[in-house]
Amino acid sequence: MSKVVTVSFLIIICITCIEIGSDAQPQPITGIKKTPFTYICDPARFESIKVKLSDFPYCDAKLPYPERAKDLVERMTLPEKVQQMGDLAYGVPRLGLPLYEWWSEALHGVSFIGRRTNSPPGTHFDSEVPGATSFPTVILTTASFNESLWKKIGQTVSTEARAMYNLGNAGLTFWSPNINVVRDPRWGRVLETPGEDPYVVGRYAINYVRGLQDVEGVEYHRDSDSRPLKISACCKHYAAYDLDNWEGNDRFHFDSRVTEQDMQETFILPFEMCVNEGDVSSVMCSYNRVNGIPTCADPKLLNQTIRGDWNFHGYIVSDCDSIQTIVESHKFLNDTKEDAVARVLKAGLDLDCGDYYTNFTMGAVQQGKIAEADIDTSLRFLYIVLMRLGYFDGSPQYKNLGKNNICNPQHIELAAEAARQGIVLLKNDNGALPLNTGNIKTLALVGPHANATKAMIGNYEGTPCRYTSPMDGFYAYSKVINYAPGCADIVCQNNSMIPAAIDAAKNADATVIVAGLDLSVEAEGKDRVDLLLPGFQTELINKVADAAKGPVTLVIMSAGAVDINFAKNNPKIKSILWVGYPGEEGGRAIADVIFGKYNPGGRLPITWYEANYVKIPYTSMPLRPVNNFPGRTYKFFDGPVVYPFGYGLSYTQFKYKVASSPKSVDIKLDKDQQCRDINYTVGTNKPPCAAVLIDDVKCKDYKFTFQIEVENMGKMDGSEVVMVYSKPPGIAGTHIKQVIGYERVFIAAGQSAKVAFTMNACKSLKIVDNAANSLLASGAHTILVGEGVGGVSFPLQLNLNH
Ligand SMILES: *[C@@H]1O[C@H](CO)[C@@H](O)[C@H](O)[C@H]1NC(C)=O
Ligand SMILES: *[C@@H]1O[C@H](CO)[C@@H](O)[C@H](O)[C@H]1NC(C)=O
Ligand SMILES: *[C@@H]1O[C@H](CO)[C@@H](O)[C@H](O)[C@H]1NC(C)=O
Ligand SMILES: *[C@@H]1O[C@H](CO)[C@@H](O)[C@H](O)[C@H]1NC(C)=O
Ligand SMILES: *[C@@H]1O[C@H](CO)[C@@H](O)[C@H](O)[C@H]1NC(C)=O
Ligand SMILES: *[C@@H]1O[C@H](CO)[C@@H](O)[C@H](O)[C@H]1NC(C)=O
Ligand SMILES: *[C@@H]1O[C@H](CO)[C@@H](O)[C@H](O)[C@H]1NC(C)=O
Repeated sequence: MSKVVTVSFLIIICITCIEIGSDAQPQPITGIKKTPFTYICDPARFESIKVKLSDFPYCDAKLPYPERAKDLVERMTLPEKVQQMGDLAYGVPRLGLPLYEWWSEALHGVSFIGRRTNSPPGTHFDSEVPGATSFPTVILTTASFNESLWKKIGQTVSTEARAMYNLGNAGLTFWSPNINVVRDPRWGRVLETPGEDPYVVGRYAINYVRGLQDVEGVEYHRDSDSRPLKISACCKHYAAYDLDNWEGNDRFHFDSRVTEQDMQETFILPFEMCVNEGDVSSVMCSYNRVNGIPTCADPKLLNQTIRGDWNFHGYIVSDCDSIQTIVESHKFLNDTKEDAVARVLKAGLDLDCGDYYTNFTMGAVQQGKIAEADIDTSLRFLYIVLMRLGYFDGSPQYKNLGKNNICNPQHIELAAEAARQGIVLLKNDNGALPLNTGNIKTLALVGPHANATKAMIGNYEGTPCRYTSPMDGFYAYSKVINYAPGCADIVCQNNSMIPAAIDAAKNADATVIVAGLDLSVEAEGKDRVDLLLPGFQTELINKVADAAKGPVTLVIMSAGAVDINFAKNNPKIKSILWVGYPGEEGGRAIADVIFGKYNPGGRLPITWYEANYVKIPYTSMPLRPVNNFPGRTYKFFDGPVVYPFGYGLSYTQFKYKVASSPKSVDIKLDKDQQCRDINYTVGTNKPPCAAVLIDDVKCKDYKFTFQIEVENMGKMDGSEVVMVYSKPPGIAGTHIKQVIGYERVFIAAGQSAKVAFTMNACKSLKIVDNAANSLLASGAHTILVGEGVGGVSFPLQLNLNH
């Protein structure tokens, strides 16, 4: 029986799926045909070769996936198993398993980045699928603070991904999103992330992952191992990874020295949220070490925390060539290749992005460093995910997705809408914006990004459907455009092109300068060394502003913070916008905002520090102030900033009022429940019971609710992000404040709306002490709503009663 199957399946696979030899040795991946693949257990594949489907329990749809995966893995020989452990899984022809490439990316649209960029068997574009919708980079989408937008983008990306899968252009497993917290503005990968606040980052992760993964109607299932997936997402890079390459320190050698307090409170919180509330099906470990141990080799970080503490259902994958990095860069414990393979497998790493597992696992088994059973466990996790994706049984609900579901007008419009929602208005003296089309006969469009295209889509990009550059966007509003880039590129090495830009602005009715950064300055593998605009850009902006006849608007395209105090303080520059890297339709969104078709409502998801912030060595990991270094992020840094986290203006004015608020949260303790000690700041009264461990509290019983009335006092409709922070009583060594919620609301001119919040006390009032315990502290907490002078607040007493 099995002999017949062997031969027959080999033929089938070679004809209909991919070309691969029967010996299942790694093959060079050339000449792979793009042929749409139905699904493993397609009865037609079995009938055509006269084999009984029912003889193969791994194809029995009545059995639970874990049982089917176990059956499949048990049918493989050891060499066959080893061939399935790399991102390029070679398949087992005699079992009907074709080659599968696990590595695809979908950070802000389906990407062509992979093992062999834009080539099969990975996700790729070609004449049949020339492009996919390229949404704004994540840092800008985050700035919308609109969770339904984050999720909707995820849903749209997964629809395009599924359509591409059906057409033979994509896989089903996507290693996105990147949810590392931005600890320092110099990081080259800020563009990929949701910013500096761990709670916001976690919320972004949950919404984007659910948008990518959830199948409508089965979003929540009591058994994650059976919950179907639309596509599989991956939260990365775990953990404490936020330095790429800075002054001789690179991620392949870097040892993140972090306290357990920062680890729990900041670095791993988004991952915990992604697993627990996002039910993500994959987590990727990072290149760096944490306190001496490479993350992919740490059983406490992987198996114990992710699988054990968080009850993760899915597979853990390495960053690409991470195992090699452990051996060759970290030289961890002088491991041989086989030692390293055994070490990471036992730590809980299921899949290697790279060749180490494929090449050296046999040796590790032969040398007795691991048992075959260790491999089986990981393979089962992998196949359960593929089964949840319909790879074995098909996905009838997605089978009709095709070309019409990629780059269609609705998707392209959503890319423009996301950019509009994210754009942040930083300055608008005397209501200089929006510009009035009636008054603008000639527009000067200046700056190195004035005609940006590729720069708008950042990295982990795909081929976009098209580009709408700022120039294209402005032509919709102004027939005459005086275009002068002012610099040859972003680096802007000399001032030779500045005079032409001055001329352009001199006679125009309004001037828009589009400046900033791009991947030549901040990118993966490239951190910044300062927070300034590169080269002669500052001179260009000042000179053009000085000469301009009409009002001047500065548009900054960047991910990381830029010290633009010079422009903030320049009265000739009336208005400033930050537009992130705004995606393929970015130019349209910028013009729509500047001409008032859209009223901006985005908020900065990171602190914009002053240039001298870089005095703190980037390699210093602590979030709290130490060794005369200031703290990091709005939670711990209270020095002067250019613009704070959460900052953003509107063309209208909003006024807040606390409509209802709770008086106190009263927590009932058991008679023998222990109180914990905490240190107070001078002047704070020490209560009899200072704090309790959150693990000892019945958290679901302690919610508090309040309502905020928000009134639009101006003449323009607009969306307002209502940000909510909690501020602990005077406790030493804790955060200044922390985001506990936010809601983006649309309010028509002259109208008001009541925004209701329900918070869980354990999550919203939590502090993490220096032993990394999560505590609820008694005393006078404060709830702050909104930013700065326009904000409101109310006290919230937390009582711990025995
Ligand atoms: C992984 O953790 C589980 C408990 O969550 C434990 O039973 C198992 O032995 C661990 N595996 C390894 C290889 O350490
Ligand atoms: C690794 O090998 C080098 C050179 O043989 C030796 O000096 C060093 O102590 C070893 N390190 C460890 C962690 O074993
Ligand atoms: C793994 O083996 C393949 C095939 O022999 C070879 O091309 C590749 O370079 C090897 N990779 C590593 C990291 O040793
Ligand atoms: C703007 O960019 C587009 C696309 O790169 C290019 O075709 C066009 O010539 C540029 N326009 C000007 C005026 O330089
Ligand atoms: C200015 O920079 C551009 C682009 O880098 C270069 O082509 C040009 O030769 C430079 N001009 C002078 C005067 O240095
Ligand atoms: C209070 O502060 C002291 C000195 O910094 C420290 O050693 C101690 O651990 C702190 N106690 C608590 C409960 O945080
Ligand atoms: C949030 O985004 C959704 C999806 O694009 C949109 O329909 C909604 O209007 C946005 N909400 C606000 C208040 O801007």
